[in-house]
Amino acid sequence: MNAINILSKSTMKLPSRVLSLRNASFLGLRYSFNPPCCEEKLTCKSKAILLIFNQNSQFHAYPSRFLGFQRILNNTQRLYCLPSSGFAQPRAVSRPYRVSVEARVASRVRDLSTSVETRVNDKNFERIFVQDGINVKPLVVERIDKDESIVGGDQVPLTEDENNVNNIRVGLEEGKAGISVEIDIEKEAWNLLRGAVVTYCGTPVGTVAANDPADKLPLNYDQVFIRDFVPSALAFLLKGEGEIVKNFLLHTLQLQSWEKTVDCYSPGQGLMPASFKVRTVPLDDNKFEEVLDPDFGESAIGRVAPVDSGLWWIILLRAYGKITGDYALQERVDVQTGIKLILNLCLADGFDMFPSLLVTDGSCMIDRRMGIHGHPLEIQALFYAALRCSREMLTVNDGSKNLVRAINNRLSALSFHIREYYWVDMKKINEIYRYKTEEYSLDAINKFNIYPEQIPSWLMDWIPGEGGYLLGNLQPAHMDFRFFTLGNLWSVVSSLGTPKQNEAILNLIEAKWDDIVGQMPLKICYPAVENEEWRIITGCDPKNTPWSYHNGGSWPTLLWQFTLACIKMGRLELAQKAVSLAEKRLAIDRWPEYYDTRAGKFIGKQSRLYQTWTIAGFLTSRLMLENPEMASLLFWEEDYELLEICVCALSKSGRKKCSRGAAKSQILV
Ligand code: GLC
Repeated sequence: MNAINILSKSTMKLPSRVLSLRNASFLGLRYSFNPPCCEEKLTCKSKAILLIFNQNSQFHAYPSRFLGFQRILNNTQRLYCLPSSGFAQPRAVSRPYRVSVEARVASRVRDLSTSVETRVNDKNFERIFVQDGINVKPLVVERIDKDESIVGGDQVPLTEDENNVNNIRVGLEEGKAGISVEIDIEKEAWNLLRGAVVTYCGTPVGTVAANDPADKLPLNYDQVFIRDFVPSALAFLLKGEGEIVKNFLLHTLQLQSWEKTVDCYSPGQGLMPASFKVRTVPLDDNKFEEVLDPDFGESAIGRVAPVDSGLWWIILLRAYGKITGDYALQERVDVQTGIKLILNLCLADGFDMFPSLLVTDGSCMIDRRMGIHGHPLEIQALFYAALRCSREMLTVNDGSKNLVRAINNRLSALSFHIREYYWVDMKKINEIYRYKTEEYSLDAINKFNIYPEQIPSWLMDWIPGEGGYLLGNLQPAHMDFRFFTLGNLWSVVSSLGTPKQNEAILNLIEAKWDDIVGQMPLKICYPAVENEEWRIITGCDPKNTPWSYHNGGSWPTLLWQFTLACIKMGRLELAQKAVSLAEKRLAIDRWPEYYDTRAGKFIGKQSRLYQTWTIAGFLTSRLMLENPEMASLLFWEEDYELLEICVCALSKSGRKKCSRGAAKSQILV
C-alpha cells in the first residue's frame, strides 16, 4: 500500500457493529467492510511526515538499535502510530505522529468498547504504559485483566457482507441444491477472514484469533496472535495481498525490543510476544490515540513463554520475501537486527547437553501444561526451519559471519540429533524393546538410558509396518512416544527429517488415517493422555480432558501444514482428501477452533467459533493446492552441505571418538 492509500484508509468510517464488540477500539476496523468515509473519522496527523516516510524507505536504520536510546524510543512507540515504512524513520524526524479520534467518535467508542478509557479506573487493570512523548518517563497505568475484558455489546445491525455470509451459511445448512458449495465456502471464508482484520492507525496489521459476535467472553481471542496470524498471512500472500503481512512483520518487530518485565524479571530482548492488541488510550480534549499492547506471556494463562513466536516471525519473513519478491524488507538493517536478536536468544549457551532447544511446558501452539517441557518436537522443527530461513536471509558480513557459522553448526547438529534419536518405526521400537540399560560409555547404544518398560502398550499395537514418525520429546530416561502432528509436519516441510523419514511420516498418517485425521483433519497429538496420566500430566486441566483441545483434539488449522507437507512429498491426493473432509463441515459448524473425541466427531467442548486460523488454514490449503508451484516456495529440500558439517571438536583432536560417528546412523540420508 502506498502512502496515499494509507492516508485514504486513515479516514474511514467505523462500522457500527465493530463498536459493540469487545475489541471495539479501532483495532476492530474491518478493511473489507469499509464503507465510504463519513462523519466518524480516524485522523492521522502529520500526513506530510507519513508521505516523507514512504518516499524515503531507504532509511532502514532502526535508530534505537544504533543510537543507544532504545528505551526512550520504545516507550514512545507504545503510544504512537508509526506507518510501516516509518519504522525506518530517518533520525531527523524526531516527533512521531499521533492518531486522534474526533470527540463524537470517541464518546461512542467510550460507550460501547473495551477501550482503555472504559477501564481506566477499573480495579482489574494491571498496567498500561502511557507516555507523553519522546524523552519522557512512562506513566504507568494499568492493564485490562483478560478474563474480564468484555463490556457492553449492544446488538447492532449486521453489515451487508455479514448478511451475505449468514445467507450462505443458511444455504449450506439446508443443503440447498444449486449452490456451488465450493465457491460459496471460499467466499464465506474470505469474508470472515477479512472481517477478522485488525487495523492500527488505519492500516491492517493482523487478524484477531477468533471473531464470534456471539462470544461474550473472548478472553484474549480478540488479540492478534503471532502463530495464529501465519496462515492468515499466507492466505493474503497467496492472494497477492502483501501489505498486511509487511505491516504485521514491522509492527511486531517494534514490539520485540519492548522493555518487558514479569514480576521484575526481564526476559531476553529478542523475545517476540505471543499476541498483541490495539487499544485506544484517552488523551486530553476528548481525543484518543491507539497503542499496541503486547503480551509476552506476562498475562497469558499459566504465564507460558511464547518461544515459537520469534521462530514463526522468521519463517513468515522469509515467506513474505519468497512470495512477493520484496526482498528489500528482509535486507533492512532493523529487520536484520530483529533476526539476530531472536537467534541470539535461541543460540545462547546454557546448561544444555543437546542441540535441541530446551523450553518450558506450553511454549508453542500447545500453550498450557501438556507434558511437553524439555525438548518438544514442535519447537525443534520450528527452530530448524527458522535457522534455515535465517541462513538464507542474513546478510553475511564481518558483523554476522560468526552467527552464520553458529547457525550452520546448529543446523547440522540438530538434524543429526533429531534424525538419529527421535525417529521411531517398527524396527526402532523393536530395538528399544531389547535395549540394555545403564550403559556408561561414548559408544552406548541406549544413550538416554531408556528403560524398555517405558514403551506404552498402545504403541506396540499401533505402530504400522509401513511408515514411522518422530517422537514428541526426548530427555534423559524419557521418550514421549505420542505423535505430535505439527512437529512431524514441520519436520517434513523443513527437511529436518531425512527424505526417507519424511516419506514415512506421510505413510504413517495414511496408514493411521482414522486416528490422525478421522472426521476432521487433524489431531493435534495422538493418543490422548487419560486417567491418572491425565491428572499428573495436565494437572487435572478440565479443558484438556482426554480427546479434547490439546489432549488429542482435532485442529482444522493443521490442514494447511498437512497440505504443504503433502505437496512437498508429491502426495496431493492425501491433501485433497483431507481438504474435502474439512470443507464438508467447517462452514456448517461455523469454523470451530477444534473438535473433540477420538474421531474428531464433535465440535470442541469449549471451542471458539469463527476461529481465524481455522478459516485461514482452509483457504491457504485451497490456494496451495491450486498453485503447488507457489507452495513450493514455502518448503525446503535436503541440504547436503549441512550433512557434511561435523561440529564435533573431539573428532578433530583425534583424542576421543565423536559420538556422532559412534551413533552408527543408518538414516542420515
Ligand atoms: C489457544 C491455542 C493457541 C492459540 C490461541 C489463540 O490458546 O492453544 O495455540 O494461539 O488459542 O488462538
